[in-house]
Amino acid sequence: LARRRGAGPLAGRHLLVTSGPTHEPIDPVRYIANRSSGKQGHAIAAAAAEAGARVTLVSGPVSLPDPPGVTVVRVETARAMLATVEAALPADIAVFAAAVADWRPANATDEKIKKGPDGPPGIALVENPDILATVSQKTVNRPPLVVGFAAETHRVVEHARAKIARKGCDLIVANDVSAGSGVMGGDRNTVLLIGRDGAVETWPTLDKDEVARRLVARLTVLAGT
Ligand code: CTP
Ligand code: CA
Repeated sequence: LARRRGAGPLAGRHLLVTSGPTHEPIDPVRYIANRSSGKQGHAIAAAAAEAGARVTLVSGPVSLPDPPGVTVVRVETARAMLATVEAALPADIAVFAAAVADWRPANATDEKIKKGPDGPPGIALVENPDILATVSQKTVNRPPLVVGFAAETHRVVEHARAKIARKGCDLIVANDVSAGSGVMGGDRNTVLLIGRDGAVETWPTLDKDEVARRLVARLTVLAGT
């Protein structure tokens, strides 16, 4: 049950969360996307609301219900997600759990591409904006606590440390999404927390709801009073 407004350890705080995939149109009926159920991001938004925060959840296309007590803005593309995140600032804490498509088709067409004698179309890609890096590197309205995720299939710690340095966030929640880990689409998650100093904290495999509650508890401490 959501707490009474004004109660809870995060009362008075604004927490911004991204969740789910983005869809990048090829034509009106096709898109490219990452695999993401949105379960972990939505659970974080729900846990923050339970802790009393005002929560804005910017979600890509997912088949999950809106968490209770959370303001949800649904978007399709990475560019729309960035614009919506920017419009939702300022925030005290920002958690970027979305699996943003790194690239989008350079020239989405207004008409459906038809099969033809010339064979498959080539799809030129351009890079999407990096929402986490953009917000982490803001000079105005940077949230005091910016948290990224890193889904990796190999050399998890090494890649996560590189991401925290490259993007400028304060904390990375890294997880191993290699085949057989059971993380993608599942209800459980095995995460590592990596700080700016490179320190690694390994959490046991937990329900995504429990990962969310522990993460919100940690962020409450880090955000201070
Ligand atoms: N992210 C983002 N915008 C993007 C790409 C990633 O906000 N265009 C965020 C994700 O939400 C996540 C973090 O950056 O919090 C790391 O995403 P990830 O895909 O692991 O990192 P990339 O920098 O895209 O590197 P790569 O996919 O090559 O591993
Ligand atoms: Ca990526």
